Amino acid sequence: MDKTVQKQFKRVVVTGGAGFIGANYVHYALSAHPDWQIVVLDKLTYAGNLENLEAVLHRIEFIQGDIANPADARKALQGADAVLNFAAESHVDRSLLDARAFVRTNIEGTLVLLEAARQAGVRRFLQVSTDEVYGDLSGTDRHSLETDPFRPRSPYAASKAGAEHLVLAYGISHGLDVVITRGSNTYGPYQYPEKIIPLFITNALEDKPLPIYGDGSAVRDYMHALDHAAGIDLVLHRGAAGEAYNLGAREQVSGVQVAEAILAALGKPATLKKFVADRPGHDYRYSVDPSKAEALGWVRRYSFSRGLAETIEWYVQNPSWWQRVRAKKEHQSLMQTWYGQR
Ligand code: NAD
Ligand code: TYD
Repeated sequence: MDKTVQKQFKRVVVTGGAGFIGANYVHYALSAHPDWQIVVLDKLTYAGNLENLEAVLHRIEFIQGDIANPADARKALQGADAVLNFAAESHVDRSLLDARAFVRTNIEGTLVLLEAARQAGVRRFLQVSTDEVYGDLSGTDRHSLETDPFRPRSPYAASKAGAEHLVLAYGISHGLDVVITRGSNTYGPYQYPEKIIPLFITNALEDKPLPIYGDGSAVRDYMHALDHAAGIDLVLHRGAAGEAYNLGAREQVSGVQVAEAILAALGKPATLKKFVADRPGHDYRYSVDPSKAEALGWVRRYSFSRGLAETIEWYVQNPSWWQRVRAKKEHQSLMQTWYGQR
């Protein structure tokens, strides 16, 4: 597609909009496209939280439902001209404990949504995917390109890779207009405190140890949620049908560096760092080359240091949000089952 050609949408369905990146996208989209009608379809699993949308609930339509349920998908997509599929089971460690929900939501749910999109005649389907489909780059200084083969290594990554294959197949077999984003590790406000950054910030705020897997040298390319949202929005409007776009921040930050930066920012002692048993099958390096999205005009606003400082401040300012989440059974049980023996 020509760089100057921009698709226009009016009624847009955001699945998983009550989760972390989905909610950040809804906030971003409402300010970038104030005339949009946004429908959020979200099952409100342990990771979904209507508080994430509290400030904008009067401006959107919210449907509590399951993307893997055809009736829910059909209802949400009625009259829609675009769908952005954020809904997923998203945590690698949970996929190691039990992968069934990952297959059901990430693969079957994507299939149900694609079918509903085809029947509703939507003009564009955007699949929010991940750089984890490329697998581990450790031992190399390469950056994954969109043309690289998939080598997923965790059940989570495998389920996201499976979903992508279905999305691309629907583009080819049924002529559905599909685009895919492959985002890197994301952080920012409203992130459920199981991923490393919000887990470490909230543990540090409670003077609890920060569990660093293995030797803490695994690196990730951390990207702020609003930069991720802007990249997704750009691909929705300007991406070429049938294409995938990497979104990453060109950062390489290790687990130890994350822990040390958070402890330093909060004035907590280095003794809170705790090296624990490694994650099985731990991918030690992800890194994407985001040139293709940059060529569409994607510009990031956050460096890791600024983004992390603002994110820490958000958790400091919103203790009731994360204290409520951490008090719930789903969180306590992950802490017990996953970290109890480490
Ligand atoms: P999250 O776990 O915070 O939120 C997921 C949301 O999806 C929740 O609101 C949940 O209620 C909803 N959901 C789950 N199953 C559902 C179902 N069957 N039907 C409807 N809604 C359902 O996830 P996130 O971190 O915001 O990730 C959003 C998307 O971005 C996912 O597709 C994920 O694979 C992808 N992604 C995440 C990251 C990251 O670092 N978090 C990086 C790259 C890509
Ligand atoms: P995570 O936030 O779970 O994202 P992903 O595995 O999807 O990339 O983990 C990011 C990195 O942090 C990864 O190298 C594993 C590491 N990590 C820890 O060291 N301790 C933890 O408690 C968690 C959750 C992650």
